[in-house]
Amino acid sequence: MEVVIVPDAAAGGELVANALARLVGHKPEALLGVATGSTPLPVYQALGAKVRAGEVDTSRVRIAQLDEYVGLPAEHPESYRSVLAREVLKPLGIGMDAFMGPDGTAEDVQAACEAYDAALAAAGGVDLQLLGIGTDGHIGFNEPCSSLASRTRIKTLTEQTRVDNARFFDGDIAQVPHHVITQGIGTILEARHLVLLATGEGKADAVAATVEGPVAAVCPASALQLHPHATVVVDEAAASKLK
Ligand code: F6R
Repeated sequence: MEVVIVPDAAAGGELVANALARLVGHKPEALLGVATGSTPLPVYQALGAKVRAGEVDTSRVRIAQLDEYVGLPAEHPESYRSVLAREVLKPLGIGMDAFMGPDGTAEDVQAACEAYDAALAAAGGVDLQLLGIGTDGHIGFNEPCSSLASRTRIKTLTEQTRVDNARFFDGDIAQVPHHVITQGIGTILEARHLVLLATGEGKADAVAATVEGPVAAVCPASALQLHPHATVVVDEAAASKLK
C-alpha cells in the first residue's frame, strides 16, 4: 500500500484527478469506479476542469457505481444514481449510456446484486476504484464486521451512518433509507487499482486503522492492505494519527 500525504483536500483532489487523467490517457475506455459523499467532490471538480480545458477525452470512459440506496426511486435527487449524474457524469461530459449501477428499486434485491457483480465482470472489471472512508472505517457501505470476502449485497446502514447522511435529506434522519446495495469488499478488491481518499481530522482514526492496524473486519478499509495496487491519499489532518 502506498500512502501519499498532501497538504489539503484541494491538493488531494488535484492529485487523484491527475491519476484518473493519466489512466484515461492510456486507456480511453477505462471503467472508473466512483464513490459519492463529500470527500471525492474535489476530484470530480478538478477532473471536470481538465475535461473542459480539453486535456482529457472522456468520450469512451465508463463509470461504475459503488453503492445505492434501496427503495429510493432512481430519479430521487439523493439516489446515488442522481447524485453521480449531477456530480460526475455531467461535469465529465459522460452520458448515462456509459453508466452502470445496481438497481436499488428491484423487487428481487439479491438478484439485482448478483446481476451487478456479473455486469462488472462482463465489462472487464473496474480499472480504478475511487473510495472514501467512513469515520468507522467503512468503504462503500461495508460497515464494520462486514466479511472481507463479501460480494455485492444488501446491507443495513448503522444509525451513525444514517445520522451522517441526514445532511443530504434536509437534516431529517427519517428520510434516510435504512438499506443500501453496496459492492462487497471482495468485489471492491477486484478493481485493478484502489485509490482511497480521506480528508479532515474526523477521518484520522479510521486512516490509522486502515494503514497501520491489523487487517480486520472491524475496519473494512484495512482490506486494502491485501490489494497489490492500493493508494491511500490523505491530507495532513487525516494523516495526523499515523505513526
Ligand atoms: C459513498 C461511500 C461511502 C463514503 C463514506 C465517506 O458512496 O462509498 O463509503 O465514501 O461514507 O463519506 P464522506 O466522503 O461524505 O465523508
